[in-house]
Amino acid sequence: MSKHIVIGVTGGIAVYKILEVASKLRKLGYSMNTIMTKNACEFVQPLAFQTITNNYVVTDTFERPYTWDVEHIALAKKADVMLIAPATANIIGKIANGIADDMLSTTVMAARGPVIIAPAMNTAMYENPIVQENIAYLKDKGYLFIEPDSGWLACGDLGSGKLPAPEKIVEYVVDVLEQVEAPIEDKGTSHKEVERDLEGKHILVTAGPTIESIDPFRYITNHSSGKMGYAIAEDAAKRGAKVVLVSGQTNLECPPNVERINVRSAIEMYEAVHEHFEWADAVIKTAAVADYRPKETSHHKIKKKGEHLMLELVPNPDILKSLGERKSHQVLVGFAAETQNVIEYAEDKIRNKNLDFIVANNIAEAGAGFKGDTNIATIIEKDGTVTEYKKMYKSELGNVILDKLKNYLD
Ligand code: PMT
Repeated sequence: MSKHIVIGVTGGIAVYKILEVASKLRKLGYSMNTIMTKNACEFVQPLAFQTITNNYVVTDTFERPYTWDVEHIALAKKADVMLIAPATANIIGKIANGIADDMLSTTVMAARGPVIIAPAMNTAMYENPIVQENIAYLKDKGYLFIEPDSGWLACGDLGSGKLPAPEKIVEYVVDVLEQVEAPIEDKGTSHKEVERDLEGKHILVTAGPTIESIDPFRYITNHSSGKMGYAIAEDAAKRGAKVVLVSGQTNLECPPNVERINVRSAIEMYEAVHEHFEWADAVIKTAAVADYRPKETSHHKIKKKGEHLMLELVPNPDILKSLGERKSHQVLVGFAAETQNVIEYAEDKIRNKNLDFIVANNIAEAGAGFKGDTNIATIIEKDGTVTEYKKMYKSELGNVILDKLKNYLD
């Protein structure tokens, strides 16, 4: 049976983002009920949630769908996880003070499973000491919070209090749901408490593809989206590390508290990485670097002539190998994208490039490698230890890699 989520929606302009959250969760196979407060219904019609979740939306404590095995705690019993998003200062205050005066607050009161709260409000409200005290109190009682983002708010103010992007909320909820079903020892790194265990460490991450120009219009590249490297950079920054992210061209936003250096070609990446190598305690090379580049880049568009065009390619520097040769105190982590003999080739790379460990992913496997939000990895260490991991979100894998890295840094 699929896991069930009860989404509590309170009144805020960010309600529209929760429609996308519900849609994404449904596509992942989760079932859902929605409880909307009266104020939430001012922003979005219950019908929108009903259509997306394919399930009844409750808007009032005294309204009973006849198909339901009622009791006002029925939804609480049904929920493997409750998500309250966007969560106003009002609902946070009610939960913190034990007030149960409508369907949402009563259901939260009766919930046995994890309750995830995603606050969204004006910065001044969010920073109000009463709201902060309520949040701290609820965290202490085991409620989970998705920290709001900073940015321009609907009211025109700039600051924290912005509901994070739907993808981030979905990822968090899925992570919690997986832990609900997983035995304690399989839990992995939890989002519940982000321990700043990498404080003081300098981590250099590379991400994305390199682009090797043929002429002003054409180039050689690969399918890397940068998601894996950006996830690691974001996780490392959350854990307190100073992070420099050397990034090939991607569509991704720079994660908070990360210094990004944009590069295009392998040569540019080589230079940026070497410039920061002394500074770094660890380098994680997620980037998909082109092994070859055109011997010459034409300054003008190459015109069509005859049937064949011979393009001469020359090898790019192997950036990771050059770091392995130069390494003093740094921990070196490579990635290996393979389609066959994954472990064998990865072990060769550890030796040839003088790595501490390598994260191998079979890019031919569904749910692994390029572009997607998930990956399936095997970590191979220089002492021969091999650890296989199940399919997980790239952000989750980022924390797994950082946990391993921490052992080396310590
Ligand atoms: O960006 P995403 O869409 O999220 O996809 C993630 C990913 C599939 C790109 C990532 O998980 C991954 O596998 N990255 C490594 C891809 C790769 O280039 O693998 P490789 O086996 O060719 O290279 C091995 C290692 O040497 C890598 O750490 C690579 O960064 C490094 N290398 C390779 C060639 C080169 N000239 N210089 C290098 O430093």
